[in-house]
Amino acid sequence: MSIIIKTESEINKMRIAGRLAAEVLEMIEPYVIPGVTTNELDKICHDYIVDVQKAIPAPLNYHGFPKSICTSINQQVCHGIPSEKKLKSGDIVNIDITVIKDEYHGDTSKMFCVGEVSPHAKRLIKVTREAMFLGIEQVKPSATLGDIGHAVQKYAEANRYSVVREFCGHGIGKNFHEDPHVLHYGKAGEGEVLESGMILTIEPMINIGKRHVKVLADGWTAVTKDRTLSAQWEHTILVTPGGYDILTLRQEEM
Ligand code: MF3
Ligand code: CO
Ligand code: CO
Repeated sequence: MSIIIKTESEINKMRIAGRLAAEVLEMIEPYVIPGVTTNELDKICHDYIVDVQKAIPAPLNYHGFPKSICTSINQQVCHGIPSEKKLKSGDIVNIDITVIKDEYHGDTSKMFCVGEVSPHAKRLIKVTREAMFLGIEQVKPSATLGDIGHAVQKYAEANRYSVVREFCGHGIGKNFHEDPHVLHYGKAGEGEVLESGMILTIEPMINIGKRHVKVLADGWTAVTKDRTLSAQWEHTILVTPGGYDILTLRQEEM
């Protein structure tokens, strides 16, 4: 597969899918409190996407994934499977939403703090979000994928954190995951050159401890090998003639 440049009509559909994904994160916020199970969050999101948005939750049955959203708690890096486990005060949780509307995908995630969270967890969450935005700010025609990865890695490591390498951002459109791979580490000026009309996700996973991860026996949940906390944020980004447009921006970010 090579990188697909989206047409004007595809971009319009991607804007709609992106907005719907963002709206699911806005909708779920008041439910992310101590005592809720991640299965309950999954059901609320599923029903909202299907019944209100008339859209499709992309993770459900994607390569066998059993739920409609990913919920990754504390040392879980990504692809956490919702379960009967209750969230408790002090947990940090990434909720990753991907919807399909009119055949096109919108993909976005954010970190939620459950009840009262420790200062070191809050710092990880803040630095990871800033790292994502530094990556996003690199996006413009003639910049390279390496510019994005370099910006993310430099900032994460300057803050004494590590960047996960096994999972990356991706092109997105009619397919959930398209070319290119968007690494969150690398060298400025290296890699594919960006062009107007490309759409990709930037979704760094950053750990307090070492970068290494392993996948649990469920075949999905990635956790830090050293069991330190991990955070992730994700947006879907359109390359525009003048730079970028964030297709999954939430009200709180405008
Ligand atoms: N939403 C994830 C991403 O950002 C992918 C989840 S795949 C699933 O690419 F199967 F785990 F849902
Ligand atoms: Co993604
Ligand atoms: Co995602």
